[in-house]
Amino acid sequence: MTLVFDHLRKQYGSNVAIDDVSVTFEPGLIHGIIGPNGAGKSTLINMTAGSYTVSAGRIVLDGKQVSGLKKHEIANSGIARTYQNIRLFDQMTALENLEVCFYPEDAGRSVKEVLWPPYARARSKERRRICMEKLAFFDLQGWRDEDAGNLPYGRQRMLEIARALVRDPRVLLLDEPAAGLNHLETAELTAKLSALKAPDRIMIIVEHDMDLVMTLCDRIVVMHHGKLLFQGTPAEVQASADVQHAYLGTANDIDEIKSAAEDRRLKLGLRAHRGAS
Ligand SMILES: Nc1ncnc2c1ncn2[C@@H]1O[C@H](COP(=O)(O)OP(=O)(O)O)[C@@H](O)[C@H]1O
Ligand SMILES: [Mg+2]
Repeated sequence: MTLVFDHLRKQYGSNVAIDDVSVTFEPGLIHGIIGPNGAGKSTLINMTAGSYTVSAGRIVLDGKQVSGLKKHEIANSGIARTYQNIRLFDQMTALENLEVCFYPEDAGRSVKEVLWPPYARARSKERRRICMEKLAFFDLQGWRDEDAGNLPYGRQRMLEIARALVRDPRVLLLDEPAAGLNHLETAELTAKLSALKAPDRIMIIVEHDMDLVMTLCDRIVVMHHGKLLFQGTPAEVQASADVQHAYLGTANDIDEIKSAAEDRRLKLGLRAHRGAS
């Protein structure tokens, strides 16, 4: 199973936001997408999740074209995402925010649930179990009956990721999950995301926090003005003169980022970056 961007293009009027981008994302790895503001990172996420249409090219998951499908069909094919700006249902509880995720999937099966109450009860019990498991994974059990809008900001970020996981997606797209988090929360997030890595899951993280990206990601795609500037391992990205010039800044910055990432890896007990596994 791979997720493939095949000569992707996105145009907003005359503004070319994504220009002929081809990338293959492999399962079992955490892929980072970095690049300055306006580079097209969110556009890539939005096209993959079906929020935006593609102007040209294709997105293919496991050999099947998903670009062109409707948003709920893309969700049903196993692609889930979080948003750069949190989009929870503020007036619903933490638990309800997770439980609503099941409805699109079940839309076509409701007849069976209506005609056979035990089936409906079993289904709803199973859903509850899955949602509680996701809340527990993010240490959110204590917030389950609280309106999402009342959760502290950091908990809302975690709840968004929990929600994306409810249907056990094959592809998890995270758009700036660490935005607005403090150091402690970012370390917590890093550890959780690392634990979500699985052989049959493709994880793609758009992130500005270079420390987190270099710590967590196995592969990094660097975007610049809508074009794919570079792709490689964190070490390769850090060593690339093009990337340094276009994005990361001076050589001093790079050394600082490297040593900060190394410190954090040690602190979290994470293994060093591996090759394809
Ligand atoms: N909905 C939209 N309508 C028009 N232009 C957009 C829209 N979304 C993004 N853009 C433009 O596309 C380019 C890439 O934006 P975006 O994907 O949000 O970048 P990033 O996430 O890397 O900051 C920018 O020039 C931005 O102004
Ligand atoms: Mg963005």
